[in-house]
Amino acid sequence: MVLSTGTNKVKTAVFISGTGSNLKSLIKFSKLKKSPISINLIITNNKLATGLKFGAIFKIQKKIINFKDKDIAEKKILNELKKNKIELICLAGFMKILSKNFIKNFKGKILNIHPSLLPKHKGLNTHQRAIENKDKFAGCTVHFVNSKLDSGKIILQKKVRILKKDNNNSLAKKVLAEEHKLFPKAILKVFSL
Ligand code: GRF
Repeated sequence: MVLSTGTNKVKTAVFISGTGSNLKSLIKFSKLKKSPISINLIITNNKLATGLKFGAIFKIQKKIINFKDKDIAEKKILNELKKNKIELICLAGFMKILSKNFIKNFKGKILNIHPSLLPKHKGLNTHQRAIENKDKFAGCTVHFVNSKLDSGKIILQKKVRILKKDNNNSLAKKVLAEEHKLFPKAILKVFSL
């Protein structure tokens, strides 16, 4: 993927709704020389998202967008993205579904991380469902976002074995640790395509 020319890094916005541990790992990655991206904007739908603190810590601009009216919210976001010359979007624990129209505006330039081995367990409560399903493996996936939920082209996946003793929490913890490594790897892959 070639998005910008010259030596500048690709300006990226990360969308979050909660803890933002993936955001933190992306920020750390973005500071490495080998990173093709810089994180220039954090967007959230949740004013209480604890991940917002990383905006202050790393001096990155953040915007809280009220999603009561999705149309208006998306217009506001598109405006912010334009203002900040954002070229790539990383969804990292963002709990709102973006409209077809929004996605069209950033076609092929939105990545999402999902805590399952897609196409298995799209949507929510992935770890619980993997355990109940008696899956041998859980894991995480980074994929391009298209208009169907958790269905865009897969970029990279990482498997994690589900042990007998695993419960929802222990599995979530193991998968999250892998997510932190997988998202940067997937970004490197995207820019080498
Ligand atoms: C991650 O498991 C992500 O895959 C899912 O939500 C969680 C967000 O965690 N969509 P964090 O906010 O990055 O800590």
